[in-house]
Amino acid sequence: MSKRYRKTWVEVNLGHIYDNYTQIKDICQKEVIPVIKANAYGHGAVEVADYLIEKGIRCFAVSLLEEALEIREKHPDVDILVMGVISADDLTVVSKQKITFTVSQKSLYDAMKSFNGPLKCHIKVDTGMHRLGFINPHDVVALFDDAHDESHIVLEGIYTHFATSDSDRFYLEQQVQKFKDLLDNLKIKPKMVHVSNTSATLKYEKQFIFTTHVRVGIGLFGLSLEKESYGLKNTFKLNSTIVEEKTLQPGDKLGYSITYEAKEKEKIGVLPIGYADGIIRKNQNGFVSINNTPYPIVGRICMDQMFVKIPDDVTIDETVTIMGDDIVTIDDVAERLDTITYEVLCQITYRVPRTYTNRK
Ligand SMILES: Cc1ncc(COP(=O)(O)O)c(C=O)c1O
Repeated sequence: MSKRYRKTWVEVNLGHIYDNYTQIKDICQKEVIPVIKANAYGHGAVEVADYLIEKGIRCFAVSLLEEALEIREKHPDVDILVMGVISADDLTVVSKQKITFTVSQKSLYDAMKSFNGPLKCHIKVDTGMHRLGFINPHDVVALFDDAHDESHIVLEGIYTHFATSDSDRFYLEQQVQKFKDLLDNLKIKPKMVHVSNTSATLKYEKQFIFTTHVRVGIGLFGLSLEKESYGLKNTFKLNSTIVEEKTLQPGDKLGYSITYEAKEKEKIGVLPIGYADGIIRKNQNGFVSINNTPYPIVGRICMDQMFVKIPDDVTIDETVTIMGDDIVTIDDVAERLDTITYEVLCQITYRVPRTYTNRK
């Protein structure tokens, strides 16, 4: 790693990512495909892949072709599934780089038929999310029949994605039924059949006897929309440091637009992290954690700095956890921002260096 100057960093606990992987595998009793799109949900896709590959994991899913190629550069032999849409123009690169891709439209399949080179793909079926995939099951059955004669095309997998794995079970069951009906109509079942994300994996996967794999993202990172814990561990901690301190007298104002005014003599710590790092201004009035105690975020969050009200015994060079310990969890921050943990993790920008611990 190049030298790190700034005193703000993410601590990624690699050992916990692997523990979460094995825990989820134990719960669902299926092969787990780690979903490491969006820079492994902010953890660093290459570093997470490197570690999981060291642990023997051979198959990953990402969203973009760029994300797949980044992994491929270092790992010539692992399977990488692109879950987003690729275009006919991308067939040359996926074929050459042995990237497995998703086919969700007939037009791409038609282009594949006339392509000169090996292609490996999974067929995406839209059973109710209405995002990507074939809606009409007859089109899928016809495609599988047709591909039988195309020796350069391997239909390795078939999958769908749930719209309500964390909410409406009835709707999910309708999606499951549509998918199972379609599978029943396929003459030959592909090698890989998968439907569940983290939430569905934890809650329902054991009942799905028609699947072979699950696609797990947020659960690897110890988070899930389920409030039950399932024994998953924290993997992401965002830290900063007090780099300057100010003593305010009663009536002194703080920061842009002077939104905060000291009521009494108060000590303020300045942290080198701001909205350009993903700590958006809506975090004002939230909390950080110092020595396992919560302290309030005060004043406007700036692009590169933010303020925390601190006691007398906290001083320059003290480490401050912005999120990811037991005092300020990522769930707490998601709740504060009225969003989901996925968005909180993805918001932490490239400016914040990621460091890796617990490589066991
Ligand atoms: C198609 C697909 N499969 C699997 C996942 C993984 O979902 P989760 O992070 O909830 O496990 C995602 C993430 O959004 C996805 O889009």
